[in-house]
Amino acid sequence: METNRRKFLEKSITASLGVGLFSILPSKVWSAPISPSDQINVALIGCNGHGFGILRHHLNIPGVNCVAICDVDENALNRRIKEVQDSFGQNPTPFRDFRKLLEEKEIDAVIIGTPDHWHCLIMVAACAAGKDVYVEKPLANTIGECKIMVQAADYYKRVVQVGQQQRSGYTFSEPIRMIRNGDIGKIRKVNIWGNFNYGTGSIPAADGALPAGVDYDFWLGPTALRPFNPNRFHGSWRHFWNYGGGLMSDWGVHLLDMGIWAMENPTAPTKVLTYAGNLSTDIRQRETFDTMTVTYSNEEFPITWDMVAGTQLGPYEKPYGVAFIGEKGTIVADRKSFQVFPEWDPEAKAPKIEAINFTEGGESHNLHVKNFLDCVKSRETTICPPETGRIAALYAHIPNIAGRVNEPVLEWDDARQTFTNSKKANEFITPTYRSPWVLPKF
Ligand SMILES: NC(=O)c1ccc[n+]([C@@H]2O[C@H](COP(=O)([O-])OP(=O)(O)OC[C@H]3O[C@@H](n4cnc5c(N)ncnc54)[C@H](O)[C@@H]3O)[C@@H](O)[C@H]2O)c1
Repeated sequence: METNRRKFLEKSITASLGVGLFSILPSKVWSAPISPSDQINVALIGCNGHGFGILRHHLNIPGVNCVAICDVDENALNRRIKEVQDSFGQNPTPFRDFRKLLEEKEIDAVIIGTPDHWHCLIMVAACAAGKDVYVEKPLANTIGECKIMVQAADYYKRVVQVGQQQRSGYTFSEPIRMIRNGDIGKIRKVNIWGNFNYGTGSIPAADGALPAGVDYDFWLGPTALRPFNPNRFHGSWRHFWNYGGGLMSDWGVHLLDMGIWAMENPTAPTKVLTYAGNLSTDIRQRETFDTMTVTYSNEEFPITWDMVAGTQLGPYEKPYGVAFIGEKGTIVADRKSFQVFPEWDPEAKAPKIEAINFTEGGESHNLHVKNFLDCVKSRETTICPPETGRIAALYAHIPNIAGRVNEPVLEWDDARQTFTNSKKANEFITPTYRSPWVLPKF
């Protein structure tokens, strides 16, 4: 990359991320990426929930050290530091400000386990500081931020794994292998569904007193300042647009990613037809939708998404799943199992392919983490790089935007990063950050 462009980018990113970032700008960006030994020093940013589970998977691999943990909630921070001490005999340094953590030269990689509205700022800052990144899904809370993150990883030459761990799981990778092998014939359609009780949101709670030790202004970060509400906080933030996208982006990203993976040339959808509504009679606090039916058009085959939050039943007796429909049979997969249902051949009076019922799968976070760490060492591309995360996130964000602007048909031009048939939808592509936070630019 030419020097002028590099200087310009360093300047704009520094300006974008607000005070105190100068000191984290690249010392290692252009140099060899990891410690001289086989040791990998990791740090966790956002430790209350899932991020900590991902850290545990890192620490279960020999040679990985947790040198720092950062959180804006001191209670979560102290609890998780103690857990690392007790379970792994390591003593991570606590941080309340991720910018300070990123100044630590000994850190090779960071895990981002914050709510979605923070992913972009922290990931870009981490890349600029020369760290590799395991960032949770969805890649970001908006389409525009996703694009910036792809550019940042590319520009700073960082190894980045997006937390769409199903890519590392056998019950999905084997069906994809079979599809590529032609086992179920030409793929005609992929039907995807995800029904979960938690998707309707939490029991309503009034705004209230800030818990001791919580910096809620920092938690809100680039989003609008508001009084503390326990539902706009740990875990339940995902039902509010400023921080997440509801069940659509929580589970939708994982499962839609499997339909996208089945394509020969995974691409963004060109046309999306959306029903989005709130039909549940449960009294819950949320802004996101509880009921959605979406059809995605692509050059290869249509994909559908169905979601009825507040229910736990679904096709093939699975609350969630992916049905890859081929001309010789259908493969139905979830995280624990997959089945092959053959089509019947009337002439041969026999099934067109063999039926399979594989039930011994399981969660694949450990394998996904291992793939990340292997790539940190080898500098190869991870199994779920930012572009894969960006495309999956698009499949969730577009229908959410369609529902929010009440325009059921949206046409997306990925090259131009614009909706070609809706001015209102275009207003949702790029977020407006609250000062002093500024959206990074490339
Ligand atoms: N891959 C999966 O299967 C999976 C499962 C669950 C969650 N997730 C993803 O993991 C992420 C975290 O979700 P969660 O349910 O664990 O959320 P959570 O609310 O339980 O935890 C988020 C933590 O981030 C902290 N935080 C917020 N802003 C911060 C900042 N600026 N700096 C440092 N810490 C900050 C919060 O205080 C909290 O401790 C989300 O992106 C979510 O989508 C992925």
